[in-house]
Amino acid sequence: MFNTRRSIRKYKDKQIEKGKIDLIIENTLFSPTSKNRRPWEFIVVKDKDSIDSISKVRAMGSAFLKGAPCVILVIGDPTTSEVWIEDTSIAAYAIQLAAHEQGLGTCWVQIRLREHDGDLTASDYLKEKFGIPGHMEVACAIGIGYPDEEKAPHELTEELLSKVHYENY
Ligand SMILES: Cc1cc2nc3c(=O)[nH]c(=O)nc-3n(C[C@H](O)[C@H](O)[C@H](O)COP(=O)(O)O)c2cc1C
Repeated sequence: MFNTRRSIRKYKDKQIEKGKIDLIIENTLFSPTSKNRRPWEFIVVKDKDSIDSISKVRAMGSAFLKGAPCVILVIGDPTTSEVWIEDTSIAAYAIQLAAHEQGLGTCWVQIRLREHDGDLTASDYLKEKFGIPGHMEVACAIGIGYPDEEKAPHELTEELLSKVHYENY
């Protein structure tokens, strides 16, 4: 069930098997996209120094990535599809679900519409560091690793169920 997927920001000091990363990527590549345009690209980052630089992408909300053995950058191409945001978001969640299925924890770090500092957007900071073409945008970074924290599964509360309407609002 999806309720056991929680945002995990603390990871064991243990590398992720290559086969598991491959499975995550392969499953993500089957994500639905508008008009099947697949306006995304991914960078799988395992190098410690590179991950360290990603963890500094924002003043707040990204520092925990420093302890992740793997970070996947999810990049969208606005010139390929006007709904690249939807497509990259679906792919990012696919990464999270595929990782969860293999006992790995993940957490999304928002990049799009976020600042690195007063001068640079978070996306431009990463584009410069990772050689990403100028017309593309980094949507988010997903930290992945073996969980080193426990979180209770989500519960199907009345409040949550009240979000759902049948036939009319
Ligand atoms: C679009 C989006 C942006 C997020 N941005 C961040 C972020 O920048 N840093 C962070 O630590 N968590 C981030 N999160 C994780 C959320 O805080 C988390 O999903 C939410 O609190 C619900 O908790 P859960 O994932 O354990 O269900 C983001 C999640 C989403 C979907």
